[in-house]
Amino acid sequence: MTSTIRKCLFPAAGYGTRFLPATKAMPKEMLTLVNKPLIQYGVEEAINAGLTNIAFVSGRGKRAIEDHFDISYELEHQILGTSKESLLYQIRDVISQCTFSYTRQVEMHGLGHAILTGETLVGQEPFAVVLADDFCSAEGDGVLKQMVALYNEHQCTIVAIEEIPADQTESYGIIAGEEISPGLYQVKEMVEKPKPEDAPSNLAIIGRYILTPDIFDILRHTDPGRGGEIQITDAIAERAKTGKVLAYKIKGQRFDCGQIEGFVAATNFVFENLYTNGS
Ligand code: G1P
Repeated sequence: MTSTIRKCLFPAAGYGTRFLPATKAMPKEMLTLVNKPLIQYGVEEAINAGLTNIAFVSGRGKRAIEDHFDISYELEHQILGTSKESLLYQIRDVISQCTFSYTRQVEMHGLGHAILTGETLVGQEPFAVVLADDFCSAEGDGVLKQMVALYNEHQCTIVAIEEIPADQTESYGIIAGEEISPGLYQVKEMVEKPKPEDAPSNLAIIGRYILTPDIFDILRHTDPGRGGEIQITDAIAERAKTGKVLAYKIKGQRFDCGQIEGFVAATNFVFENLYTNGS
């Protein structure tokens, strides 16, 4: 088994019902922060971490994602040599650096099930998972790059966390553990979306994970949990019983783009701080 991380898995089969009607005929991952789709920010974060083997668990109605990470000959032909061409430089760059593979989740049984569906693309090696609707921005190394560096040191499962207000625990997986160095916890307990009174802490998992391939066997035997779905949180909690699982407080900002408010905040942030018009 290689111990270097090369692959990044993007579960991208969800419906995005909170954004209807925008997501009626368009994947939620293609919603844009200003002029770039959420999924492209995620892929760029993976590239920044050195992960250029990109795997998507997609589903029905998601073909725009495949088309986005491919060449559009007609478009290239139309704008070749014009001032607009520079607008395509960044996505061309992404396409040329990565390989993209796809598998479809035929039925939706939760995030754990989506990740298990990706086994065929990941195989027997450690891998990263990015949930593209958690948009992360960091001033130095990207969040995934921070986590890959940590993996290289510890060679174990790692989840990204941040502190959240105590009344929001029902929206997240929540961890509890021992702080082994500032911002780094050895996980003892993980609960998916507990009520505030049942939450073991206010440390919430955000959509960045480094997983080892033994997670697939655990997922195969994980019963449906919260919401009747197979939860990755439950599988990682099981993993923590027998091996080291770390929770890492990210250095950077994270926006929940699965919610309208977070999406608007991220849009403003990108416009003010990151937006380039291709020039
Ligand atoms: C998923 C996970 C949850 C995690 C969250 C991060 O939930 O199940 O543990 O905290 O992503 O965004 P979802 O937001 O898909 O309901």
